[in-house]
Amino acid sequence: MSRLDSFIRRMSAQRACLDAVTREIATLPGIVLELGLGNGRTFDHLRERLPDREIFVFDRRIAAHPDCIPDKAHMFLGDIREQLPLAAARLGRRAALIHCDMGSGRAAEDDALATEIAPLLQAMALPGCVVLSDQAFQQPGWHAEGLPDGVSPGRYFIYRVESRGNAD
Ligand SMILES: C[S@@+](CC[C@H](N)C(=O)[O-])C[C@H]1O[C@@H](n2cnc3c(N)ncnc32)[C@H](O)[C@@H]1O
Repeated sequence: MSRLDSFIRRMSAQRACLDAVTREIATLPGIVLELGLGNGRTFDHLRERLPDREIFVFDRRIAAHPDCIPDKAHMFLGDIREQLPLAAARLGRRAALIHCDMGSGRAAEDDALATEIAPLLQAMALPGCVVLSDQAFQQPGWHAEGLPDGVSPGRYFIYRVESRGNAD
């Protein structure tokens, strides 16, 4: 497979997952957390698919396309490990959808980051919240869900946060 084919496959899988989870939360009111603004592609997709939701975005820096930069009130700038507790204090437990797209390609680092932020995300996740991630999580009360057709297992991960009581 050419690198172009591989890139298109990866992006198609990401879009299929984003479209699936945005449909999945249709009946769950709440905010959206976008972890990893990057160049703003997935933020732009989420705001197009979910025009009525507030989306709060996290990144250590702004390097996005100028049309895809959230306003200051919706941007948490800095290391995610420091920003998530601030976000939890300000926003509380209101997230219906959390999209984590922070992978660096360095497996050990990405894994350590996922382990560290999972309890912080749990503190903001509504019961029934959907978590879409490029990294696997091992968070009690988060149940793995199937991926859309055509998305290879291990490429993305979808979890549903326990809806009976709080899992933390
Ligand atoms: C793969 S890119 C995100 C791509 C983006 N979703 C898009 O569609 O354009 C990953 C982003 O996560 C951010 N990131 C990685 N680790 C971080 C950390 N510990 N704190 C804050 N941001 C982090 C990086 O700065 C980078 O912009």
